[in-house]
Amino acid sequence: MFNLGILTVSTSGYHGKREDTSGEAIRELLAPPLYQVQRYEIVPDDDEVIQDRFKRWADDDGLDLVISTGGTGLSPRDVTPEACLAVIQREVPGLAEAIRAQTLEKTPMAMLSRSVAGIRGDTLIVTLPGSTKAVRECLEVIIPVLPHALEILKDRAEGHPTGP
Ligand code: MTE
Repeated sequence: MFNLGILTVSTSGYHGKREDTSGEAIRELLAPPLYQVQRYEIVPDDDEVIQDRFKRWADDDGLDLVISTGGTGLSPRDVTPEACLAVIQREVPGLAEAIRAQTLEKTPMAMLSRSVAGIRGDTLIVTLPGSTKAVRECLEVIIPVLPHALEILKDRAEGHPTGP
């Protein structure tokens, strides 16, 4: 069982003007028995607030995995990737690369997400785009490798799985 945090980054969602179907999609796709949601919050597109949640959920709460949704685009208020890069110690570029490569087959819009992923302590942080459809498409790509990634982080991995 991996402890999961879901961080929805949306100023309108924070003000109750948008239903958080993207956060719900993460909850649905990363469900028990493998994942247990320990933290869930909607925050505005605020660099400091996003960094604070990433840090607290990693350092104080010791979550295994934090998935954020939103704020990865090109608008000036989209700061989630920068907040993530400011708090991680090591980037895991292959996750975002695979997401963009594979979801590009579904939509050219995939090019517009600046999603990043990385490690803080033994917590893996992945920043996904904001739309519910995008969350589903992107999670589908990384779900097969997440358990092994998290086991390695916890130093519990046995052997190297090779196939899908
Ligand atoms: N990735 C996938 N797989 N599917 C999508 O529909 N939407 C894109 C992109 N990534 C999309 C996607 C769009 S339209 C934008 S603007 C960017 O993600 C950034 O979204 P965000 O600012 O909500 O994070």
